Amino acid sequence: GKLKMFVDELPEMPKIPGFHLSSHGLPKSKSLKIGMFMKKWKFHRDLPPTPVFAYGESKSKATVPGPTIEAVHGVATYVTWQNHLPSKHILPWDPSIPTAKPLNKKGVPTVVHLHGAIDEPSSDGNSNAWFTNGFKEVGPTWTQRTYRYRNLQHPGNLWYHDHAMGLTRVNLLAGLIGSYIVRHPEIETPLGLPSGPEFDRTLMVFDRSFRSDGSIYMNSTGNNPSIHPQWQPEYFGDAIIVNGKAWPRLIVRRRKYRFRIINTSNARFFRFKFSNGLQFIHVGSDSAYLSRPVFTNDILLGPSEITDVIVDFSKSNSSSVILANDAPYPYPSGDPVNESNNKVMKFVIKRYRDVDTWRVPKKLIDYPKPDFSSATRTRYIAMYEYTSETDEPVHLYLNGKPYEAPATETPKAGTAEIWEVINLTEDNHPLHIHLGLFAAMEERELVDLDKFKSCMTKQNDAVKCQISKHARGKISQVQAHESGWKNVYKMKPGVVTKILVRFSYIHSNASYPFDATAEPGYVYHCHVSTLFNLLFKRTRKYEIFLF
Ligand code: C2O
Repeated sequence: GKLKMFVDELPEMPKIPGFHLSSHGLPKSKSLKIGMFMKKWKFHRDLPPTPVFAYGESKSKATVPGPTIEAVHGVATYVTWQNHLPSKHILPWDPSIPTAKPLNKKGVPTVVHLHGAIDEPSSDGNSNAWFTNGFKEVGPTWTQRTYRYRNLQHPGNLWYHDHAMGLTRVNLLAGLIGSYIVRHPEIETPLGLPSGPEFDRTLMVFDRSFRSDGSIYMNSTGNNPSIHPQWQPEYFGDAIIVNGKAWPRLIVRRRKYRFRIINTSNARFFRFKFSNGLQFIHVGSDSAYLSRPVFTNDILLGPSEITDVIVDFSKSNSSSVILANDAPYPYPSGDPVNESNNKVMKFVIKRYRDVDTWRVPKKLIDYPKPDFSSATRTRYIAMYEYTSETDEPVHLYLNGKPYEAPATETPKAGTAEIWEVINLTEDNHPLHIHLGLFAAMEERELVDLDKFKSCMTKQNDAVKCQISKHARGKISQVQAHESGWKNVYKMKPGVVTKILVRFSYIHSNASYPFDATAEPGYVYHCHVSTLFNLLFKRTRKYEIFLF
């Protein structure tokens, strides 16, 4: 049967401070233990409980999404991530792809990446640094149980999620996601933005399908079953889940709220829009504040992308409003949305106007503007379908290199580089870079695409294939709310996107207080299912199989 929409209240995930207060009231660093547990989770009033993998301080406290960790700028948070999962996965995964494989064949490999964090590689959640229940088995790049998050970076929104080689997509689908906020009260409080638990909310949005017994439905036959019996690069579900409830509702006052919205879907893009014309006032994008607020009527959010918006319900001309979605899936040329996935949640607006003490200042936070003249070099990063005779016809690689190939992007900490990202595929790819923040500067359509593509699949070299001759199409400017420092940007098909990548903090000139060239290095990758690459020291790694 069909699930009724807007019957469950929007949950607030448990909050865990990433610091403790000294006797003088000063924040001091703190050590947390957060486990991964198998338990049952109610996604909807009328749906039987669903077996999930959930993060939490204990099994009874574990939630989907996991707890929100609230850190303070400059105060380190140590987390020992502990795997308490059973020996068998709740979802089908595929050992025929490059994947984390415990030798005794038991246990679910996991490793946690804090998406948007600037920390040393040994705390970055390298895909091969996985571990099973009780650390009984660990992957080849595993070094330590406890991760150190320095929180020395600018304030903003991060999220943690599983990152294990070949299993990330199923571990996320099972529920291993959570949000993490770095707060900097000295800088943020004077802004006067909506704050406190009632007015400052995190919304983690994803899509899932369920069987009638409540379990998560995932097609267990691979796209190319004779080679990979179960592996599928993308997942789309029909129910839209916010903070662990399908199509929830939230009662709000007639005043301003802040929503930190994270698209935690594996492959679904959302284009959010309010049914009554309410606007979004953007104050941040991914982990960083914008320099000024930007008003829009809709928001296109790719997998793993974060938007930070103010919504002023006093401007509403109706007593309730639906947050809708109209992004085709896969984006941009897939199926149109249907009756279920075209709605996200509902806001029920109280009748009387409240005194609103929050404001949206004209100026937010100014970080250095992207400066091309600071770049030490230009790299070309091409995404295209690569054909080999021995495997299935299509792999998506970065510059035609597989995960195992040696590192090619080995920038120096403290520098900035121009990357021209060339998307020769049909899909939009949300490119995510660990460690470095980047600014998208310009998008140019490619001309003579077929010729360029066929050259690239033979030569793997954008310069030899005369990228300058092909990058001559229509130029578009990056939209204002996406023009700040980001860690994910949506790379459009048939387009070259020029980005400036900065391998240093954006809020200070201090260099990283750790060795950014140490093993096992960092990665950059598409956050859907396809491309994966390592920065510094390690490789150009592709990945079809991460997600
Ligand atoms: Cu959100 Cu490498 O990941």
